[in-house]
Amino acid sequence: MKATRVSAGVAAVLLMIGVARGAEAPAGASSCTGCHSAPSGVSAMRRLSGLPQAEIADKMIAFKSSAATATIMDRIAKGFSDEEIRAIAAWYAAQKP
Ligand code: HEC
Repeated sequence: MKATRVSAGVAAVLLMIGVARGAEAPAGASSCTGCHSAPSGVSAMRRLSGLPQAEIADKMIAFKSSAATATIMDRIAKGFSDEEIRAIAAWYAAQKP
């Protein structure tokens, strides 16, 4: 029974990843590409596409609380709720660089 619940959970996560990859970018995600470049673009700034979701989200949340020092990202991160940040991070994590 427990194993069934675990595999249902894994299936749900895989389904979410599948949805994220094919899905349209969530609100706010396209605002990042001016500096960080689109999934297929080239930029001097660190590319977000393909980075782990947790890495993007944790960094954004750290910028938001000023736990991470920044020149601009602290101000940008404050414009998003944690939920929006997680949605944007999930979308970038699912994009192939
Ligand atoms: C105006 C340009 C600009 C925009 C727009 C922008 N960023 Fe950034 N980003 C930066 C800069 C510059 C840094 C380096 C930290 C700093 O100085 O603020 C950075 C750093 C980051 C980092 C940390 C990378 C690392 O490896 O340390 C993440 C994650 C990030 N940005 C995510 C985002 C997301 C998500 C968005 C869209 C919501 C976004 N950025 C929009 C300029 C931008």
